[in-house]
Amino acid sequence: KVMKDISGLKDMEKKLEDVLGVSKAVVVSGDSDQYALVKNELGLACVREIERCLGAKNIIAVTGGSTLAAAAEMMHPLKKAHQDLLFVSARGGLGVKVENQANTICAKMAEKAEGRYHLLHVPDQLSDESYHSLIEEPSIHRVLQLVHGATIVVHGIGSAKTMAIRRHSGEEFLKRVDTEHAVAEAFGYFFDRTGRVIHKVQTIGLQWEDLFGARAVIAVAGGKSKAEAIEAYFKKGPDSVLITDEGAAQEILKNF
Ligand code: BG6
Repeated sequence: KVMKDISGLKDMEKKLEDVLGVSKAVVVSGDSDQYALVKNELGLACVREIERCLGAKNIIAVTGGSTLAAAAEMMHPLKKAHQDLLFVSARGGLGVKVENQANTICAKMAEKAEGRYHLLHVPDQLSDESYHSLIEEPSIHRVLQLVHGATIVVHGIGSAKTMAIRRHSGEEFLKRVDTEHAVAEAFGYFFDRTGRVIHKVQTIGLQWEDLFGARAVIAVAGGKSKAEAIEAYFKKGPDSVLITDEGAAQEILKNF
């Protein structure tokens, strides 16, 4: 039975790579919508992928969310004598649970991996005015340079509706999510089903363009409820490694 399950997952991985156009897909068994423990498996697969991407000098930029929090939970020492490991927060703070914020995850990952870290001490969502003054602030400027120069980016993907609510977006934006058919959200960008960006939160953190220059991009998202978001996000997404679960994979592949 176990052997069959494993070959089934491998099969799904190959199909997902084709359908989504990602360079690599990893599928863990189960559906994280149904069993919280599956999120830890996603986290562990993410840690393994980070390990695989390591070089002599590493700048690892991380975002927030409960899936990345699970990856931080599953992190273990990665540091070898010849490796320089620096974790940086790719996002500022959101008014959400502290354990799911990029800064918390970044510090925890670094500590468990035995690396160093730099945090981004700004709110995630900024007015034009604050944006322009904060970006000049030397301590913030330094962290941003590290984020832009990341050798590995690790981020989550969410459903547009869920994330709009979590970000306390107003009525007006919630309506736009419906009228413009936004289905996916990643690092403050909202995407419709064709992968077109319909909205972007003003932030000094990680930008869409940064992903195209980074050496390795790891996206971690699972659960049947995120299938549509994952599919939409990769329509125009950067080359990435996708770590997902059976729940999401089955739902995505059902139409193919
Ligand atoms: C974060 C991303 O990493 O994860 C968000 O920055 C994304 O854009 C979120 O939507 C998903 O959160 P969760 O809790 O579903 O893992």
